[in-house]
Amino acid sequence: MTLLLWLSSDWSSIAVLGVFLTVFTLVFDFMKRRKKWSRYPPGPMSLPFVGTMPYIDFNNPHLSFNKFHKKFGNIFSLQNCWTNVVVLNGYKTVKEALVHKADDFADRPYFPTYEHVGYGDKSEGIVVARYGHVWKEIRKFTLSTLRDFGMGKKSLEEQVTEEAGFLCSAIKAEEGRPFDLRFLVNNAVCNMICSIIYGGRFDYGDEVFRKMVALFENSLSEEAGFLTQFLNVMPILLRIPGLPQKVFRGQKAYMDFIDVLIQKHMETWNPEHTRDFTDAFLKEMSKGKEAEENGFNYNNLRLVTADLFAAGSDTTSATLRWAFLYMLLHPGTQSKIHKEIDMVIGRERSPTMMDQVNMPYTNAVIHEAQRCGDIAPVGLPHMAYRDTELQGYFIPKGTTVITNLSSVLKDESVWKKPNEFYPEHFLDVNGQFVKPEAFMPFSAGRRVCLGAQLARMELFIFFTTLLQQFTFMLPEDQPRPWTDGYFALIKCPHPFKLRAIPR
Ligand code: HEM
Ligand SMILES: *[C@@H]1O[C@H](CO)[C@@H](O)[C@H](O)[C@H]1NC(C)=O
Repeated sequence: MTLLLWLSSDWSSIAVLGVFLTVFTLVFDFMKRRKKWSRYPPGPMSLPFVGTMPYIDFNNPHLSFNKFHKKFGNIFSLQNCWTNVVVLNGYKTVKEALVHKADDFADRPYFPTYEHVGYGDKSEGIVVARYGHVWKEIRKFTLSTLRDFGMGKKSLEEQVTEEAGFLCSAIKAEEGRPFDLRFLVNNAVCNMICSIIYGGRFDYGDEVFRKMVALFENSLSEEAGFLTQFLNVMPILLRIPGLPQKVFRGQKAYMDFIDVLIQKHMETWNPEHTRDFTDAFLKEMSKGKEAEENGFNYNNLRLVTADLFAAGSDTTSATLRWAFLYMLLHPGTQSKIHKEIDMVIGRERSPTMMDQVNMPYTNAVIHEAQRCGDIAPVGLPHMAYRDTELQGYFIPKGTTVITNLSSVLKDESVWKKPNEFYPEHFLDVNGQFVKPEAFMPFSAGRRVCLGAQLARMELFIFFTTLLQQFTFMLPEDQPRPWTDGYFALIKCPHPFKLRAIPR
């Protein structure tokens, strides 16, 4: 009270208040920001509150990063407000962290916005789950469920082949007119995840399916949006009543939709007969308390399935679109693939994974499309699980670690023509397929992409089946598509149209 009286007395006290607030703010900032460690990676000087964010040109962030890379080397540090971030560049550095010090870099940073889509204790999904025994159990279960997916009926490969057939029919129906491949390819890869999780595919025109794909895309763009990112930096704003409901509306709608699908499954569940991933998970859940503690609970089922959709659809779809874009721009490459297909498979039967070893050129092209397309330029963020060291630098526990996969896939010391589409990167002098170690589009180490095997199957079978059936061409009136892509979580080609002429 006396303070207030004293404050209201005259102008000079406002100055005093100003000084007081400034000092308080600086002390607060000082307490929140990092300690000074010796041997911490170098980086631009961090300012109170905002850290190093003002140095980043948000319209062209890679230009700023290139500058830091040049100035500070392969390992440099940034500070997002009070979050310590270390960026790793180049094959050697990234491999040392993810492979040689796998445990030290296997954690994931936690963001306050997660809670609003259902993230909680023992239910963290899989993609952003903290490194620990729940993540381990869920990852092991998911991998083995995907692997021995025969489950009495069709193998995963047969399902991919079947879906490729549907995709071909839909493309045929375009009758050589210019169209954007994106929607059909999206449907095909979404269907693969649907088959795995819900035991069946949908017709591309199906109402429920269309709604699901739309809800899903909506929720992804919301997650990548500026507002969500901002709330992660300023979580206190999440306490504003009604705000989270507004901001996460799309993600909530999507989760509600998943709830309905799971509910339907639970009603028809028969423990004797496992139809799909959801059934296998329900079976684990029925094992009681311990299973529940290990992450097999209802809340986690919806998060894990949402994660598989998020991680498994746009990634594969974007990669395929890059591959077809390169075919439009490199007709000579396309006709070489046509020749190889005609020689090894012919025009009658469908391609199988067994054909891959006999098709070094096609295989090289798919790998080069992945390398050059570079759809996850900075992968997913990691976090230091404990205090560790990398090339002489000290990286404290809890530091967010960005592994720059782009800098690995385009590392000048490994690739002959890092910034060109050049399938020969994956061929030896005798035309045999070789895979340089720096081919890391799925990352590496403990958190390496869990769906890599499925993704490789989809890429090979979808791509080869379509090229067996069609020649892809640029429509005459269309400008040459851009090859630089745009970036929102993953790097996609700009929309383009093509014509598919039956062979
Ligand atoms: C061409 C397609 C794909 C690419 C390029 C890709 C790439 C990646 C990358 C870069 C990561 C981050 C790894 C890290 O943190 O270091 C990742 C993680 C993950 N991916 Fe993929 N992915 C693809 C397809 C798939 C598919 C089809 C599935 C699902 C069935 C899938 C499921 C996952 C999961 C669950 C994780 C998180 C793993 C963990 O944190 O333990 N991905 N992927
Ligand atoms: C990652 O590497 C690429 C290619 O070297 C570079 O252009 C980009 O700026 C890097 N990003 C970061 C965050 O360092």
